[in-house]
Amino acid sequence: MKPFDVYTLQDITPVRAKGSWLWDETNTPYLDLYGGHAVISIGHSHPVYVQKISEQLQQLAFYSNSVINPLQQELALKLGIQSGYTDYDLFLCNSGAEANENALKLASFRNGRKKVVAFSGSFHGRTSLAVAATNDAKLQAKINTAHDVVFVPLNDKEAFSAQMDETVCAVIIEGIQGVAGIYEPEPLFLQYIREQCNAFGAMCILDEVQSGYGRSGLFFAHQYVALRPDLITVAKGMGNGFPIAGVLIHPDFKAVYGMLGTTFGGNHLACAAAIAVLDVIAQENLMQRAETVGQQWIHTLKSMPGVKDVRGKGLMIGVEFEKPIQNLKQSLTFKHRMLTGTAANKQTIRLLPALTINQNDIDRFNEVLYAELQNY
Ligand SMILES: Cc1ncc(COP(=O)(O)O)c(C=O)c1O
Repeated sequence: MKPFDVYTLQDITPVRAKGSWLWDETNTPYLDLYGGHAVISIGHSHPVYVQKISEQLQQLAFYSNSVINPLQQELALKLGIQSGYTDYDLFLCNSGAEANENALKLASFRNGRKKVVAFSGSFHGRTSLAVAATNDAKLQAKINTAHDVVFVPLNDKEAFSAQMDETVCAVIIEGIQGVAGIYEPEPLFLQYIREQCNAFGAMCILDEVQSGYGRSGLFFAHQYVALRPDLITVAKGMGNGFPIAGVLIHPDFKAVYGMLGTTFGGNHLACAAAIAVLDVIAQENLMQRAETVGQQWIHTLKSMPGVKDVRGKGLMIGVEFEKPIQNLKQSLTFKHRMLTGTAANKQTIRLLPALTINQNDIDRFNEVLYAELQNY
């Protein structure tokens, strides 16, 4: 047997990592500006994280959700305080897709409807409902198309309101669209979604799987608008590499409890990892850091030759170039050994580094990029 390749593999074999750096089997270093799809939030092998998981592993790695787990209580308490959603409840699971799948299911349990409104360019995961709400037909098998989902252009109020009526179960939107190439919903558009959901009894789901956990400079990217979603999904940065995800559930959902379940979700080891992440975010003031470091970086990137647009907030940055990026990306990866991400927009590079990335490493990347763009 051999592993099933889910992506086209780059010829790199990392075997260890620290902070924003990876080393391969020949001890060659790589600067990690991508965090393995926005997962590495507090840096690889952070000492607080390593210690917390190691200690928990020695104590109790797993027991099922049929007994009291004080680590879940501590995690929910801290997540509530740090995100500002103190009165919400937390359902724990294992991946972003699973979080969205459960959020959509909860929405339907609550209002008994099935139509979902999602947006052009959306990515919500690869399980049945999540992939049906993902705007990429290539990812959908015939069986996924049984769901009732419509896609409307992001920030298009008219097209959106044309879809809204009493049959809508949920509207699902990313805090900032990641896979598409870093596109932000306008504040007024987000507010309009909330108003329309209120008017028609639809559930408003914010997918903060990629944009959450301080990456945007706020705990959640949607928080620059005064809006309380019905459901918020989190994953990626939550465990800094340990698989854990969650759904933050508005207190009005009490009536639908007992509808969800999971074997592995919220296990002791996963909770320990997620608690360490929240502790480090607070202790090292990483949200504020992401905001200031990101603002400066976006400013510098905008002044580079060949750059058409720079989008994003904090350390969730999309750099769109005037030409396709294939050669540039190859050069960054294999000549300069700097890992960046691609996007559905083929002229865009995604920068999603650890929130702990230091200025020297950002400067190093800027110099390399600037030099590469001279001949691009
Ligand atoms: C916004 C968003 N939602 C959901 C997912 C799916 O997460 P996972 O791969 O953990 O299932 C992703 C993954 O890229 C994502 O970016």
